Amino acid sequence: MSVFPDAIGVVKEGRENLLPYGDMAFNAFGPRNELFEKSFANAQTVAAWIAEQCERENLSEDGIGASVYAAADRGEVSEEEAGLLVRSLLTAGLDTTIFGIGATLYCLAQHPEQWAKLKAEPRLARSAFTEVIRYMSPAQTFYRTTNAEADVAGTIIPEGQKVLLCLAAANRDPRQWQDADEFQVDRRAVGHVGFGHGIHVCVGQQLARLEGEAILKALIDQVSSIELDGEPEYRVNNTLRGFDRLPLHIT
Ligand code: HEM
Repeated sequence: MSVFPDAIGVVKEGRENLLPYGDMAFNAFGPRNELFEKSFANAQTVAAWIAEQCERENLSEDGIGASVYAAADRGEVSEEEAGLLVRSLLTAGLDTTIFGIGATLYCLAQHPEQWAKLKAEPRLARSAFTEVIRYMSPAQTFYRTTNAEADVAGTIIPEGQKVLLCLAAANRDPRQWQDADEFQVDRRAVGHVGFGHGIHVCVGQQLARLEGEAILKALIDQVSSIELDGEPEYRVNNTLRGFDRLPLHIT
């Protein structure tokens, strides 16, 4: 809530709108169920604040937002597109990473032997975060619509159908991963689909990985043990999976 919005160049006042906005955006995928309706209760106020913050004059001069507008000045995107691009970064870059960081702490608390391995080999920080994204997958699912008939392993999906892609399940597919249900900080989890795949693959994944690695390195330097200190509570969302509350005891 501080580092990422600062990097984009968002004003400090009103940042509390970012969390309900993310919740709304990720509930909007899939059916219009109770979760969808509930998170859209205050949609107008929240969406209006976000749209305003994505305007050129409301962003800092040296953030990622300003560099998107610089692309508009070079004629690479229109002014309107620049605003929408900044908005898409704010939509996709917060809850996902927050849940990824929460999942990292949870995995380390649940697997002290993996935490010990990481402490002994800090260079594993990057691969450990990748493994968290495979093992816990903050983005559980995404939808696609077929634009032509498709043959998927012998099953024909007609044109114009909604297809639910279960990214988190693919990340635990035993045909792809050895000991798929084990969390291993030194696993080469290359090829997981926790950041998506293909043309819409996560555009912010390098930033997310950097955040994950930075947090892990700070923990490795300053923390000796991470333990659960109560029952975690999940945040239920139509797309994402993560914690609403994660009580930890950190020494
Ligand atoms: C651990 C953190 C993150 C996870 C797990 C994650 C996951 C994903 C996934 C699964 C997709 C593919 C969506 C699809 O197939 O339709 C995606 C796309 C996207 N992500 Fe991330 N993401 C993370 C962090 C970020 C960050 C930090 C940013 C912004 C800086 C970001 C911006 C985006 C954008 C704009 C897209 C849409 C790309 C497109 O449709 O072409 N993400 N992300």
